[in-house]
Amino acid sequence: MNVPESLKPSNLAEERLVREIDGTRLPQHIAVIMDGNGRWARKRHLPRVAGHRAGVQSARTIIETCARLHIPALTLYAFSMENWRRPKAEIDFLMRLLRDYLRRELPVIQRNNIRLLIIGRPDQLPEAVRNDVERAMAQTASNTGMKLAVALNYGGRAELVDAFNRILDQARQTGLADALVDEETISQNLYTAGLPDPDLLIRTSGEMRVSNFLLWQIAYAEIYVTETLWPDFTRAQLYEALLDFQKRDRRYGGLTDSRQKITA
Ligand code: FPP
Repeated sequence: MNVPESLKPSNLAEERLVREIDGTRLPQHIAVIMDGNGRWARKRHLPRVAGHRAGVQSARTIIETCARLHIPALTLYAFSMENWRRPKAEIDFLMRLLRDYLRRELPVIQRNNIRLLIIGRPDQLPEAVRNDVERAMAQTASNTGMKLAVALNYGGRAELVDAFNRILDQARQTGLADALVDEETISQNLYTAGLPDPDLLIRTSGEMRVSNFLLWQIAYAEIYVTETLWPDFTRAQLYEALLDFQKRDRRYGGLTDSRQKITA
């Protein structure tokens, strides 16, 4: 694959990976469960927040790389509804980190023509976070490059509940109470309306779970789990995930080889 000058490989291993990637068969939407910040910190005898700080650096690299590869959409799981169960000091730190990220990275986001979206229930976020997030979304609203969806106070089941309630509301308002709901109706009422479904879901730190993330949207996603902890997830590792994705045989329940004999 030819990569832009800004992504010129920094070492031989990266160069070899890049050469193998087929630039015409990149995923349309990559979703990432960024896991392992706490374990990364523990291994280094550092406080958990140091892991989150290092995690922001990985996020920054992956966001810029995906944008420059012209991946149409990237979704990052930054804060789940379940994360409120963490100690208040850690939650406060994560919120502060997000605000700092938005403030510091907005010029980079703009330069890369990225459109920022937030998915989740924003009303339960601290007001300062909500304001910063809304400002960043407004400022990038006319960008035409990659859509970057950050999942904040996000839960996949809550998203479905919200979608069904929106559909019910619309039915009540239009008097179309008897209208049938189809898959398209549900997709259009999710937080991710307008984004293609993820075709690649990456999870770091080796856990084999989807953790209430994009439950509807990942129906046909290829799942790539790596033992690497999120702060150690590099550009080269993203390339490895892309190569792995391109080796998969995506059948969507059908058959790859239609010439194969079905019966004896
Ligand atoms: C999981 O590590 C990660 C999170 C709870 C999300 C935090 C993500 C970041 C700080 C990346 C920043 C993202 C953006 C968009 C700026 P964990 O604490 O669950 O790790 P553990 O399972 O090892 O304890």
